[in-house]
Order: sequence, then structure tokens, then C-alpha cells
Amino acid sequence: MQSLDANLLRKAFPSRAIEHYNTIDSTMRAAAGRALGTVILAEQQTAGQGRYGRSWHSEAGSGIYLSIVLRPARLLTMALGLATAETITSATGIVCDLRWPNDVMVGGRKVAGILVQLSDGIAIGGIGINVNQSAFPRELAQLATSLRIHAGHEFSRMDILQALIPAVERFREMPDDAILRLFPEASSYTRGRRVVVDQPDGIIEGVTAGLTDAGYLRVRQDDGTDTLIVAGGVRAAGA
Ligand code: BTN
Repeated sequence: MQSLDANLLRKAFPSRAIEHYNTIDSTMRAAAGRALGTVILAEQQTAGQGRYGRSWHSEAGSGIYLSIVLRPARLLTMALGLATAETITSATGIVCDLRWPNDVMVGGRKVAGILVQLSDGIAIGGIGINVNQSAFPRELAQLATSLRIHAGHEFSRMDILQALIPAVERFREMPDDAILRLFPEASSYTRGRRVVVDQPDGIIEGVTAGLTDAGYLRVRQDDGTDTLIVAGGVRAAGA
């Protein structure tokens, strides 16, 4: 297992503070209170955070576990999903799908996840990418994959990181209309996909019918009712 070379990243991105930890509880916590643009990286997280209070499996030396301090923006989670999917494709050649709003999928399984937290007027964007894991715990095995499992060989985490940092910058600067145009092009989930969605008052099933101007997902149930989905919990029906 080769450790990340934080000095190389500092040379490549000289205007950024880049902190690199061998073991940390969560890069999200370490990013709190840091200056805009700061990147926190870890080889391993002992309390990696996922969405909805879940944990993020953060095996040592295998994945990318990164948090970046950003200015809050309305469609930031979608922008980070687009940046991550594009980076994976440009650095590895693997084409990804985006499960609205920001799960990065390969072969129907999740290969990367995004978590955005707001605190004290700044946003912390957390990105976890499964790069070289060779297996996952039993409870994740049907849901998660890594680039290595998908392709059958390892990838350089540094190559991915060197593409990811500028991609985050580029997508976060894009106006909302560009994000709303690019997202459906990158995501098979935004239109015509039969999905099941966990809602606070139960589960609904229907076919996706595009995004609203606010980036919400429209799901049309079989009785013709449209429901706007404002948070995640979307999965392919029958999966
Ligand atoms: C998800 O549930 O899909 C979001 C996963 C986000 C994981 C990343 S790993 C780097 C950063 N630090 C964390 O504790 N979580 C995010």
C-alpha cells in the first residue's frame, strides 16, 4: 500500500492548505473551522461519516477520504457528484452513473459518496471514493464496489486526487443552469427510471420525471401523482 504524497499535492496546488492524516476519526470534523479551500485527506478514518447518520467504510490506504472547505452554494452536492464522476472517468477510463443527488455508481453499485455539511457560514464537502478495496464487509457487499473490483486491477489514488481537486473547483464555480443541464446527461436516474424512494412517511415507487429548477427530483407514481424528492434515499426499483 502506497501512502498519498501530500507534498506533491502541495506543489501542484500551492495556494491551498493541504492536511494529510494517517488515521483520523473523520476528515469532516477536521475540516470544521479551517480556511476556505483547505483540503483534509486521510489514509484511514475510524469514524467516517456517511449521509443520514450512516458510517462510511474507510479501510486504510485503499480509498480516497477527503474533505474540502467551500463557500456554500445551492446545488453544491450535485456539483460535487458531477466533479467526482467526471474525475473517475478522466483518471481511470471507468464511466460512472450518478444516482440522484450524488451517489456515484459503477455497475449498479456505489463507488463513491458525497456528504455536504454546513457550519458557521461555510460548507464542508466530503468525498469518499472506493479505489483499491478488494472486498467489503458482508452488509455492504451487494451495495458497494471499488474501482479495483470493477476493473480487476489497482489504480493510483494520487492520479485521481490530482484530477479531483481542480474538478471540484471547476464544478463549484459553475452556474446553477449548467449543473442542471449537465446532471441529467451524467445520470440515468433523472428521467424514465423506475425507482423506490424512502420518504419520511413511507416508501413511494414511481418513474423519475426530471429535475426542478431547485435540483429536486420529480417522481411520477402510477396513479399520476408527482412527488418532489428533496433529499436522497432513491434506489432502482427491484434492486
Ligand atoms: C454517503 O453516505 O454517500 C457520503 C459518504 C461520504 C464519505 C466521505 S469520506 C471523506 C469524508 N469524511 C467523512 O467522514 N465522510 C466523507
